[in-house]
Amino acid sequence: MENIERIPTHVAIIMDGNGRWAKSLGKERYEGHIEGVDSVRECIKAARRNGVKYLTLYAFSTENWGRPVEEVNALMELFCKSVMAETDQLVEQGVRVVMIGRRDRFSDKVRSHLEKIESATAAGEHLTLVLAFDYSSREEITTAVKSLANRVASGEIAVEDICEQSISQSLYTADIPDPDFIIRTSGECRLSNFLLWQASYAEMYFPTTMWPEFKQEEFDKALEVYASRERRYGKL
Ligand code: FPP
Repeated sequence: MENIERIPTHVAIIMDGNGRWAKSLGKERYEGHIEGVDSVRECIKAARRNGVKYLTLYAFSTENWGRPVEEVNALMELFCKSVMAETDQLVEQGVRVVMIGRRDRFSDKVRSHLEKIESATAAGEHLTLVLAFDYSSREEITTAVKSLANRVASGEIAVEDICEQSISQSLYTADIPDPDFIIRTSGECRLSNFLLWQASYAEMYFPTTMWPEFKQEEFDKALEVYASRERRYGKL
């Protein structure tokens, strides 16, 4: 896209509205997730084309385990299928995939697919695709606090060493810059336990478009919205 003056380094998206989109067309919720994978593909292309360096997608929240078991299983199957189908393309496009979230609650099959895509794409230099799987921001912060407390208890660091930077470095996102721009589709205006620490200065955008309809033009439009915002970081 031409004439975009300010491109965010890091865009993070809460992909919402798959189920509602499907239901509104008389389809099963699962079909919304399938079309949602196409939106993932489209947004990766648009992010790359625009020079965005990090794209984070909220793919499965800790709370999503509470959905009916059939839907959880269908989502897990879809993740595995998508990994198999997309890995070569991602490598070709220079996309590096990294996961944030817990890893201990997935089946061995799902975990091995997720780890496979991380190692296969590790050399990608154009875009880092951060997939939040079994992710909860409060759980992430709690884990970070425990790890810092353990380091203090073992004498590795002093209480005075705990600062914003050491907390950031103890999160799943340690090596990832904070998001500049957070998008949530479907018109819901909540963060829902997503990147709460990292979102401190992010611009937010809540388009009413359902995720299955959020394709390249919608991504480009979102970047125009971002470019029109003035960020002051608490200063005048
Ligand atoms: C939210 O819609 C979407 C999800 C919980 C799953 C997101 C998953 C995908 C888009 C599939 C593939 C992703 C990757 C990374 C391969 P919802 O079900 O909450 O919709 P609703 O609010 O309308 O019910």
